[in-house]
Amino acid sequence: MQPLVIAIDGPAGAGKSTVAQKLAKRLNLAYVDSGATYRAIALKVLECGISSDDAAAVGSTVESTDIRLQAQDSGLRVMLDGRDVTSFIRSPQVTLAAAKVSRLPQVRSKLVALQRTFDRGHGVVMEGRDIGTVVFPEASLKIFLTAGPEERAQRRLSDEREKGRTASLQETAYEIGRRDQLDEERAISPLTAAPDAIIIDSTSLTADQVVDRIIALANERKLL
Ligand code: DC
Repeated sequence: MQPLVIAIDGPAGAGKSTVAQKLAKRLNLAYVDSGATYRAIALKVLECGISSDDAAAVGSTVESTDIRLQAQDSGLRVMLDGRDVTSFIRSPQVTLAAAKVSRLPQVRSKLVALQRTFDRGHGVVMEGRDIGTVVFPEASLKIFLTAGPEERAQRRLSDEREKGRTASLQETAYEIGRRDQLDEERAISPLTAAPDAIIIDSTSLTADQVVDRIIALANERKLL
């Protein structure tokens, strides 16, 4: 039997990370946050003083960069050239740079190839923007998770506050709207639901309810 690959795509703040982590735990599958790979490249680009818009310089940086994701009890650790950068890749500067570098073809082709190695033949829940469309078009189950813009801004704000950052709802809503635009208008692999994805609107659902729904879908399809 083929290893189970569950793709969870959707816009920023739709609850993909929480849902994907809980789902992976319940099904005993690996969890992969593909966005962390774009964030790691963005961090390196910023640290090297390269402009995120400089396609040639970013392209050569990505070729010489080693990114690894390591599952640990504390969660997924992100290693950039052997250094643990997990806590550095969530800053607003990295968020914006990640949205920019993810538009570049050389970055996407290198990171998509890397992400494909993460299933390691044992099955995976991978979340991102193009998992069901590009990374794993043959995924066993594809979910496109959405939520209303206000709910997404509210959730993102609570995440930010938990991390001790101060932002207003207005700023957060603006940042999410800007990222939606960059994700949707990207020439390569824009954010879009795969034709065979199941769309779940999580606006009035808890993460556990979304996970229950995905497990029910997997059972219906006799994947479990
Ligand atoms: O999910 P995230 O916010 O950590 O993603 C960071 C950036 O990477 C975001 O701007 C979209 C981009 N991304 C992408 O283009 N494709 C993916 N599969 C995952 C993320």
